[in-house]
Amino acid sequence: MRIVDIIEKKKDKKELSDEEIQFWIDGVVDGSIKDYQTSALLMAIVLNGMNDRETTKLAHAMMKSGDVLDLSSIEGIKADKHSTGGVGDKTTLALSPMVASCGVKIAKMSGRALGHTGGTIDKLESIQGFRTDISQEDFIKQVREIGLALVGQSGHLVPADKKLYALRDVTATVDSIPLIASSIMSKKLASGSDTILLDVKYGEGAFMSTVSDARKLAETMIKIGKALGRNTMAIITDMNQPLGNTIGNALEVREAIETVRGHGAEDFKELCMGAGEIILVQAKVAKTKEEARSLLEDAINSGRAFEKLKEMVAYQKGNVNQIENPDLLPKAKYVSEIKSKEEGYLADIHALGLGLCAMKLGAGRKKKEDEINYAVGLDLKKKRGDFVKKGETLCLVHHDYPLEDDWLNDFYACFSYADKKIEKRPIIEEIIS
Ligand code: URA
Repeated sequence: MRIVDIIEKKKDKKELSDEEIQFWIDGVVDGSIKDYQTSALLMAIVLNGMNDRETTKLAHAMMKSGDVLDLSSIEGIKADKHSTGGVGDKTTLALSPMVASCGVKIAKMSGRALGHTGGTIDKLESIQGFRTDISQEDFIKQVREIGLALVGQSGHLVPADKKLYALRDVTATVDSIPLIASSIMSKKLASGSDTILLDVKYGEGAFMSTVSDARKLAETMIKIGKALGRNTMAIITDMNQPLGNTIGNALEVREAIETVRGHGAEDFKELCMGAGEIILVQAKVAKTKEEARSLLEDAINSGRAFEKLKEMVAYQKGNVNQIENPDLLPKAKYVSEIKSKEEGYLADIHALGLGLCAMKLGAGRKKKEDEINYAVGLDLKKKRGDFVKKGETLCLVHHDYPLEDDWLNDFYACFSYADKKIEKRPIIEEIIS
Protein backbone atom coordinates (compact mmCIF):
# COMPACT_ATOMS: atom_id res chain seq x y z
CA MET A 1 0.00 0.00 0.00
CA ARG A 2 1.26 3.53 -0.76
CA ILE A 3 0.12 6.66 1.07
CA VAL A 4 0.27 8.65 -2.16
CA ASP A 5 -2.48 6.42 -3.63
CA ILE A 6 -4.62 6.96 -0.54
CA ILE A 7 -4.24 10.75 -0.84
CA GLU A 8 -5.10 10.52 -4.54
CA LYS A 9 -8.23 8.49 -3.77
CA LYS A 10 -9.54 11.00 -1.23
CA LYS A 11 -8.63 13.87 -3.56
CA ASP A 12 -10.87 12.14 -6.14
CA LYS A 13 -13.74 12.04 -3.57
CA LYS A 14 -13.56 8.24 -3.18
CA GLU A 15 -14.21 6.21 -0.03
CA LEU A 16 -11.15 4.87 1.82
CA SER A 17 -11.19 1.24 2.93
CA ASP A 18 -10.71 0.25 6.58
CA GLU A 19 -7.27 -1.14 5.66
CA GLU A 20 -6.21 2.15 4.06
CA ILE A 21 -7.27 4.16 7.13
CA GLN A 22 -5.44 1.73 9.43
CA PHE A 23 -2.32 1.94 7.21
CA TRP A 24 -2.39 5.75 7.45
CA ILE A 25 -2.77 5.87 11.25
CA ASP A 26 -0.08 3.20 11.75
CA GLY A 27 2.25 5.25 9.56
CA VAL A 28 1.46 8.48 11.46
CA VAL A 29 2.36 6.82 14.77
CA ASP A 30 5.52 5.00 13.63
CA GLY A 31 6.71 8.00 11.61
CA SER A 32 6.88 6.15 8.27
CA ILE A 33 4.35 8.55 6.74
CA LYS A 34 5.71 12.08 6.46
CA ASP A 35 3.97 15.13 7.93
CA TYR A 36 3.54 16.66 4.44
CA GLN A 37 1.72 13.55 3.24
CA THR A 38 -0.57 13.49 6.27
CA SER A 39 -1.21 17.22 5.82
CA ALA A 40 -2.27 16.62 2.21
CA LEU A 41 -4.60 13.80 3.25
CA LEU A 42 -6.08 15.90 6.06
CA MET A 43 -6.85 18.70 3.59
CA ALA A 44 -8.45 16.20 1.18
CA ILE A 45 -10.66 14.97 4.06
CA VAL A 46 -11.62 18.56 5.00
CA LEU A 47 -12.62 19.24 1.38
CA ASN A 48 -14.22 15.92 0.45
CA GLY A 49 -15.41 14.53 3.78
CA MET A 50 -15.72 10.99 5.08
CA ASN A 51 -18.80 8.81 5.43
CA ASP A 52 -19.91 7.27 8.75
CA ARG A 53 -18.02 4.02 8.18
CA GLU A 54 -14.76 5.83 7.37
CA THR A 55 -15.17 8.19 10.36
CA THR A 56 -15.86 5.30 12.74
CA LYS A 57 -12.84 3.38 11.42
CA LEU A 58 -10.67 6.48 11.85
CA ALA A 59 -11.82 6.92 15.48
CA HIS A 60 -11.21 3.22 16.16
CA ALA A 61 -7.73 3.19 14.58
CA MET A 62 -6.80 6.33 16.56
CA MET A 63 -8.17 4.88 19.79
CA LYS A 64 -6.00 1.76 19.36
CA SER A 65 -2.87 3.82 18.64
CA GLY A 66 -2.01 3.94 22.38
CA ASP A 67 -3.23 2.79 25.80
CA VAL A 68 -6.88 1.78 26.13
CA LEU A 69 -7.98 1.89 29.75
CA ASP A 70 -9.57 -1.20 31.25
CA LEU A 71 -12.01 -0.03 33.94
CA SER A 72 -13.63 -3.46 34.36
CA SER A 73 -12.25 -3.84 37.91
CA ILE A 74 -14.48 -0.91 38.97
CA GLU A 75 -17.93 -2.18 39.87
CA GLY A 76 -20.97 -0.69 38.14
CA ILE A 77 -21.47 1.52 35.12
CA LYS A 78 -18.70 4.04 34.52
CA ALA A 79 -19.88 7.34 33.02
CA ASP A 80 -17.97 10.01 31.14
CA LYS A 81 -18.89 13.38 29.70
CA HIS A 82 -17.17 15.65 27.23
CA SER A 83 -17.69 19.27 26.33
CA THR A 84 -16.58 20.64 22.98
CA GLY A 85 -15.45 23.68 24.96
CA GLY A 86 -16.69 27.15 25.62
CA VAL A 87 -16.16 30.34 27.57
CA GLY A 88 -16.67 29.90 31.34
CA ASP A 89 -17.23 26.15 30.97
CA LYS A 90 -16.63 24.71 34.42
CA THR A 91 -19.30 22.00 34.07
CA THR A 92 -17.05 19.01 34.88
CA LEU A 93 -16.06 20.57 38.21
CA ALA A 94 -19.65 20.77 39.48
CA LEU A 95 -21.40 17.99 37.58
CA SER A 96 -18.93 15.21 38.48
CA PRO A 97 -19.37 15.40 42.29
CA MET A 98 -23.12 15.90 41.80
CA VAL A 99 -23.59 12.66 39.86
CA ALA A 100 -20.91 10.75 41.82
CA SER A 101 -22.75 11.54 45.06
CA CYS A 102 -25.81 9.83 43.53
CA GLY A 103 -23.79 6.64 42.95
CA VAL A 104 -22.49 7.03 39.38
CA LYS A 105 -18.82 6.10 38.90
CA ILE A 106 -16.87 8.93 37.26
CA ALA A 107 -13.40 8.08 35.94
CA LYS A 108 -12.55 11.15 33.95
CA MET A 109 -9.44 12.24 32.12
CA SER A 110 -9.36 15.88 31.10
CA GLY A 111 -6.99 18.16 29.27
CA ARG A 112 -5.24 21.47 29.57
CA ALA A 113 -6.11 24.05 26.99
CA LEU A 114 -4.94 26.80 24.74
CA GLY A 115 -7.46 29.60 24.82
CA HIS A 116 -9.36 32.04 27.02
CA THR A 117 -8.89 30.09 30.24
CA GLY A 118 -7.23 26.84 31.14
CA GLY A 119 -8.90 23.47 30.68
CA THR A 120 -10.49 21.48 33.51
CA ILE A 121 -7.09 20.31 34.73
CA ASP A 122 -5.72 23.87 34.92
CA LYS A 123 -8.82 24.98 36.80
CA LEU A 124 -8.42 22.18 39.33
CA GLU A 125 -4.77 23.10 39.78
CA SER A 126 -5.79 26.50 41.10
CA ILE A 127 -6.60 24.51 44.28
CA GLN A 128 -3.37 24.41 46.29
CA GLY A 129 -1.61 21.03 46.12
CA PHE A 130 -4.25 19.37 43.88
CA ARG A 131 -2.60 16.52 41.96
CA THR A 132 -3.72 15.65 38.45
CA ASP A 133 -0.72 13.54 37.31
CA ILE A 134 -1.92 10.24 38.68
CA SER A 135 -0.88 6.78 37.49
CA GLN A 136 -3.49 4.55 35.89
CA GLU A 137 -3.41 2.14 38.84
CA ASP A 138 -4.01 4.95 41.37
CA PHE A 139 -6.70 6.48 39.16
CA ILE A 140 -8.63 3.18 39.06
CA LYS A 141 -8.09 2.62 42.82
CA GLN A 142 -9.49 6.09 43.56
CA VAL A 143 -12.65 5.48 41.51
CA ARG A 144 -13.08 2.09 43.20
CA GLU A 145 -12.78 3.70 46.65
CA ILE A 146 -14.64 7.01 46.31
CA GLY A 147 -16.41 6.76 42.94
CA LEU A 148 -14.82 9.86 41.43
CA ALA A 149 -11.47 10.91 39.96
CA LEU A 150 -10.62 13.88 37.71
CA VAL A 151 -7.09 13.52 36.37
CA GLY A 152 -4.89 14.66 33.49
CA GLN A 153 -4.82 12.64 30.29
CA SER A 154 -2.11 9.95 30.36
CA GLY A 155 0.81 10.52 28.00
CA HIS A 156 0.09 7.27 26.15
CA LEU A 157 -3.58 7.87 25.38
CA VAL A 158 -4.25 8.23 21.63
CA PRO A 159 -0.78 9.33 20.41
CA ALA A 160 -2.22 9.47 16.85
CA ASP A 161 -4.49 12.34 17.92
CA LYS A 162 -1.59 14.31 19.40
CA LYS A 163 0.28 14.10 16.09
CA LEU A 164 -2.75 14.77 13.91
CA TYR A 165 -4.01 17.66 16.05
CA ALA A 166 -0.60 19.37 16.02
CA LEU A 167 -0.62 19.19 12.20
CA ARG A 168 -4.27 20.25 11.88
CA ASP A 169 -3.59 23.28 14.03
CA VAL A 170 -0.98 24.63 11.60
CA THR A 171 -2.53 23.52 8.28
CA ALA A 172 -6.03 25.02 8.62
CA THR A 173 -7.56 21.55 8.85
CA VAL A 174 -9.27 21.69 12.25
CA ASP A 175 -12.79 22.52 11.08
CA SER A 176 -13.97 19.23 9.66
CA ILE A 177 -16.76 17.21 11.29
CA PRO A 178 -15.18 13.76 10.58
CA LEU A 179 -11.81 14.94 11.93
CA ILE A 180 -13.26 16.62 15.04
CA ALA A 181 -15.62 13.70 15.74
CA SER A 182 -12.92 11.03 15.39
CA SER A 183 -10.45 13.08 17.46
CA ILE A 184 -12.88 13.56 20.36
CA MET A 185 -14.35 10.05 20.25
CA SER A 186 -10.97 8.28 20.02
CA LYS A 187 -10.03 9.83 23.38
CA LYS A 188 -13.41 9.10 24.98
CA LEU A 189 -13.31 5.48 23.78
CA ALA A 190 -9.73 4.98 25.00
CA SER A 191 -10.71 6.36 28.44
CA GLY A 192 -12.77 3.21 28.95
CA SER A 193 -16.14 4.41 30.32
CA ASP A 194 -19.38 2.59 29.47
CA THR A 195 -21.51 5.67 28.85
CA ILE A 196 -20.63 9.00 27.23
CA LEU A 197 -22.57 12.28 27.35
CA LEU A 198 -21.37 14.85 24.80
CA ASP A 199 -22.05 18.53 25.45
CA VAL A 200 -21.82 20.01 21.96
CA LYS A 201 -21.84 23.78 22.14
CA TYR A 202 -22.99 26.16 19.44
CA GLY A 203 -22.65 29.88 19.09
CA GLU A 204 -20.14 32.63 19.03
CA GLY A 205 -17.89 31.18 21.75
CA ALA A 206 -17.92 27.61 20.38
CA PHE A 207 -16.35 25.42 17.68
CA MET A 208 -19.70 25.11 15.88
CA SER A 209 -21.45 28.37 15.19
CA THR A 210 -24.96 27.06 14.41
CA VAL A 211 -27.32 24.56 16.02
CA SER A 212 -27.45 22.60 12.78
CA ASP A 213 -23.64 22.18 12.60
CA ALA A 214 -23.56 21.26 16.30
CA ARG A 215 -26.30 18.67 15.64
CA LYS A 216 -24.33 17.20 12.72
CA LEU A 217 -21.21 16.88 14.90
CA ALA A 218 -23.23 15.35 17.75
CA GLU A 219 -24.90 12.82 15.44
CA THR A 220 -21.57 11.80 13.93
CA MET A 221 -20.05 11.25 17.39
CA ILE A 222 -23.08 9.31 18.61
CA LYS A 223 -22.85 6.99 15.57
CA ILE A 224 -19.17 6.32 16.36
CA GLY A 225 -19.90 5.66 20.04
CA LYS A 226 -22.77 3.32 19.28
CA ALA A 227 -20.90 1.45 16.53
CA LEU A 228 -18.16 0.78 19.07
CA GLY A 229 -20.52 -0.39 21.81
CA ARG A 230 -20.86 2.66 24.07
CA ASN A 231 -24.11 4.21 25.27
CA THR A 232 -23.60 7.69 23.77
CA MET A 233 -25.92 10.71 23.97
CA ALA A 234 -25.51 14.42 23.34
CA ILE A 235 -26.90 17.76 24.40
CA ILE A 236 -26.70 20.82 22.18
CA THR A 237 -26.08 23.86 24.38
CA ASP A 238 -25.96 27.61 23.92
CA MET A 239 -22.57 29.32 23.93
CA ASN A 240 -23.69 32.73 22.70
CA GLN A 241 -22.90 34.18 26.11
CA PRO A 242 -20.40 32.97 28.73
CA LEU A 243 -21.62 30.00 30.76
CA GLY A 244 -22.51 31.05 34.31
CA ASN A 245 -21.03 34.22 35.76
CA THR A 246 -17.30 33.62 35.83
CA ILE A 247 -14.43 33.28 33.36
CA GLY A 248 -11.04 32.49 34.94
CA ASN A 249 -9.62 29.48 36.73
CA ALA A 250 -10.01 30.05 40.50
CA LEU A 251 -13.17 32.11 39.92
CA GLU A 252 -14.68 29.16 38.04
CA VAL A 253 -13.72 26.76 40.85
CA ARG A 254 -15.52 29.10 43.26
CA GLU A 255 -18.62 29.15 41.03
CA ALA A 256 -18.58 25.34 40.74
CA ILE A 257 -18.46 25.08 44.56
CA GLU A 258 -21.43 27.47 44.84
CA THR A 259 -23.40 25.40 42.33
CA VAL A 260 -22.66 22.11 44.09
CA ARG A 261 -24.02 23.83 47.24
CA GLY A 262 -27.23 24.85 45.46
CA HIS A 263 -26.43 28.47 44.56
CA GLY A 264 -24.90 30.03 41.45
CA ALA A 265 -26.04 31.27 38.05
CA GLU A 266 -29.31 29.85 36.69
CA ASP A 267 -27.96 28.83 33.26
CA PHE A 268 -25.02 26.94 34.74
CA LYS A 269 -27.18 25.24 37.38
CA GLU A 270 -29.70 24.21 34.71
CA LEU A 271 -26.95 22.78 32.49
CA CYS A 272 -25.56 20.72 35.40
CA MET A 273 -29.04 19.46 36.33
CA GLY A 274 -30.01 18.66 32.71
CA ALA A 275 -26.72 16.86 32.01
CA GLY A 276 -26.87 15.13 35.41
CA GLU A 277 -30.35 13.76 34.70
CA ILE A 278 -29.15 12.15 31.47
CA ILE A 279 -26.02 10.68 33.09
CA LEU A 280 -28.03 9.16 35.95
CA VAL A 281 -30.42 7.52 33.49
CA GLN A 282 -27.55 6.32 31.24
CA ALA A 283 -25.86 4.80 34.31
CA LYS A 284 -29.17 3.17 35.37
CA VAL A 285 -29.10 4.94 38.74
CA ALA A 286 -32.50 6.44 37.85
CA LYS A 287 -35.27 5.12 35.60
CA THR A 288 -36.57 8.49 34.47
CA LYS A 289 -35.28 12.05 34.18
CA GLU A 290 -37.78 13.14 36.84
CA GLU A 291 -36.44 10.59 39.30
CA ALA A 292 -32.88 11.65 38.39
CA ARG A 293 -33.66 15.32 39.03
CA SER A 294 -35.03 14.58 42.46
CA LEU A 295 -31.94 12.48 43.31
CA LEU A 296 -29.71 15.36 42.20
CA GLU A 297 -31.70 17.93 44.16
CA ASP A 298 -31.44 15.75 47.24
CA ALA A 299 -27.67 15.32 46.76
CA ILE A 300 -27.28 19.11 46.64
CA ASN A 301 -29.71 20.00 49.44
CA SER A 302 -28.37 17.35 51.82
CA GLY A 303 -24.76 18.51 51.25
CA ARG A 304 -23.73 15.09 49.85
CA ALA A 305 -22.60 16.57 46.52
CA PHE A 306 -20.41 19.09 48.36
CA GLU A 307 -18.98 16.33 50.60
CA LYS A 308 -18.13 14.30 47.46
CA LEU A 309 -16.28 17.27 45.98
CA LYS A 310 -14.28 17.68 49.21
CA GLU A 311 -13.57 13.95 49.34
CA MET A 312 -12.12 14.05 45.81
CA VAL A 313 -10.03 17.16 46.55
CA ALA A 314 -8.66 15.54 49.74
CA TYR A 315 -7.89 12.26 47.90
CA GLN A 316 -5.95 14.16 45.24
CA LYS A 317 -4.00 16.07 47.93
CA GLY A 318 -5.70 19.43 47.36
CA ASN A 319 -6.29 21.95 50.14
CA VAL A 320 -9.85 21.21 51.33
CA ASN A 321 -9.89 24.44 53.38
CA GLN A 322 -10.07 26.31 50.07
CA ILE A 323 -13.20 24.36 49.13
CA GLU A 324 -14.81 25.03 52.50
CA ASN A 325 -13.81 28.67 52.34
CA PRO A 326 -13.34 29.78 48.69
CA ASP A 327 -11.97 33.15 49.90
CA LEU A 328 -8.73 31.20 50.42
CA LEU A 329 -8.44 30.41 46.68
CA PRO A 330 -5.84 32.46 44.72
CA LYS A 331 -6.73 36.16 44.71
CA ALA A 332 -5.76 38.88 42.23
CA LYS A 333 -4.17 42.14 43.42
CA TYR A 334 -7.09 44.26 42.29
CA VAL A 335 -10.86 43.82 41.89
CA SER A 336 -12.39 46.60 39.76
CA GLU A 337 -16.04 47.27 39.21
CA ILE A 338 -16.94 47.97 35.57
CA LYS A 339 -20.12 49.97 35.18
CA SER A 340 -22.55 50.14 32.31
CA LYS A 341 -22.30 53.24 30.12
CA GLU A 342 -25.77 52.64 28.69
CA GLU A 343 -29.27 51.66 29.76
CA GLY A 344 -31.44 48.89 28.34
CA TYR A 345 -31.94 45.14 28.06
CA LEU A 346 -28.70 43.25 27.44
CA ALA A 347 -29.25 41.82 23.96
CA ASP A 348 -25.85 40.17 23.53
CA ILE A 349 -22.86 39.41 25.68
CA HIS A 350 -20.13 38.25 23.30
CA ALA A 351 -18.67 35.09 24.76
CA LEU A 352 -15.60 34.96 22.57
CA GLY A 353 -14.73 38.63 23.12
CA LEU A 354 -15.00 38.28 26.90
CA GLY A 355 -12.96 35.08 26.74
CA LEU A 356 -10.21 36.99 24.98
CA CYS A 357 -10.44 39.79 27.58
CA ALA A 358 -9.93 37.16 30.31
CA MET A 359 -7.01 35.67 28.39
CA LYS A 360 -5.36 39.10 28.15
CA LEU A 361 -5.57 39.38 31.95
CA GLY A 362 -3.54 36.13 32.10
CA ALA A 363 -6.33 33.57 32.64
CA GLY A 364 -5.44 31.50 29.55
CA ARG A 365 -2.53 30.47 27.35
CA LYS A 366 -1.75 31.78 23.87
CA LYS A 367 1.15 29.31 23.52
CA LYS A 368 1.67 25.91 25.17
CA GLU A 369 4.57 27.27 27.24
CA ASP A 370 2.58 30.20 28.71
CA GLU A 371 1.95 30.22 32.47
CA ILE A 372 -1.61 30.64 33.68
CA ASN A 373 -2.50 33.20 36.35
CA TYR A 374 -5.13 31.29 38.38
CA ALA A 375 -6.45 34.34 40.21
CA VAL A 376 -7.48 36.67 37.38
CA GLY A 377 -10.69 36.78 35.37
CA LEU A 378 -14.19 38.17 35.06
CA ASP A 379 -17.21 37.86 37.34
CA LEU A 380 -20.27 38.99 35.40
CA LYS A 381 -23.10 40.61 37.33
CA LYS A 382 -25.54 40.71 34.40
CA LYS A 383 -26.64 38.13 31.85
CA ARG A 384 -28.38 38.31 28.48
CA GLY A 385 -31.94 39.58 28.85
CA ASP A 386 -31.30 41.45 32.13
CA PHE A 387 -32.25 45.13 32.35
CA VAL A 388 -29.26 47.35 33.15
CA LYS A 389 -29.30 50.97 34.29
CA LYS A 390 -26.54 53.37 33.33
CA GLY A 391 -23.88 53.22 36.08
CA GLU A 392 -24.94 49.76 37.29
CA THR A 393 -22.18 47.17 37.73
CA LEU A 394 -21.76 44.90 34.70
CA CYS A 395 -18.80 42.94 35.96
CA LEU A 396 -16.08 42.63 38.59
CA VAL A 397 -12.67 42.30 36.98
CA HIS A 398 -9.99 40.47 38.97
CA HIS A 399 -6.58 41.62 37.71
CA ASP A 400 -2.92 41.96 38.66
CA TYR A 401 -2.01 44.94 36.41
CA PRO A 402 -3.84 48.22 35.76
CA LEU A 403 -6.55 47.90 33.10
CA GLU A 404 -5.56 49.71 29.91
CA ASP A 405 -7.89 51.74 27.70
CA ASP A 406 -7.60 49.22 24.84
CA TRP A 407 -8.66 46.43 27.19
CA LEU A 408 -11.62 48.46 28.47
CA ASN A 409 -12.70 49.29 24.90
CA ASP A 410 -12.57 45.61 23.97
CA PHE A 411 -14.56 44.78 27.11
CA TYR A 412 -17.33 47.32 26.46
CA ALA A 413 -17.58 46.19 22.81
CA CYS A 414 -18.77 42.79 24.09
CA PHE A 415 -22.11 44.20 25.32
CA SER A 416 -25.03 45.31 23.17
CA TYR A 417 -28.35 46.71 24.39
CA ALA A 418 -31.97 46.72 23.20
CA ASP A 419 -34.97 48.85 24.17
CA LYS A 420 -37.37 45.92 24.35
CA LYS A 421 -37.34 42.90 26.63
CA ILE A 422 -35.26 40.01 25.21
CA GLU A 423 -36.52 36.43 25.35
CA LYS A 424 -34.16 34.30 27.47
CA ARG A 425 -33.09 31.16 25.58
CA PRO A 426 -32.86 27.75 27.29
CA ILE A 427 -29.29 26.61 27.92
CA ILE A 428 -30.01 23.09 26.59
CA GLU A 429 -31.38 23.50 23.08
CA GLU A 430 -31.75 19.85 22.20
CA ILE A 431 -31.09 16.34 23.51
CA ILE A 432 -29.93 13.76 20.94
CA SER A 433 -29.83 10.04 21.59
N1 URA B 1 -11.40 18.89 20.43
C1 URA B 1 -10.70 17.77 20.15
O1 URA B 1 -10.32 17.00 21.04
N2 URA B 1 -10.41 17.52 18.85
C2 URA B 1 -10.78 18.32 17.84
O2 URA B 1 -10.50 18.01 16.71
C3 URA B 1 -11.50 19.47 18.16
C4 URA B 1 -11.82 19.74 19.46
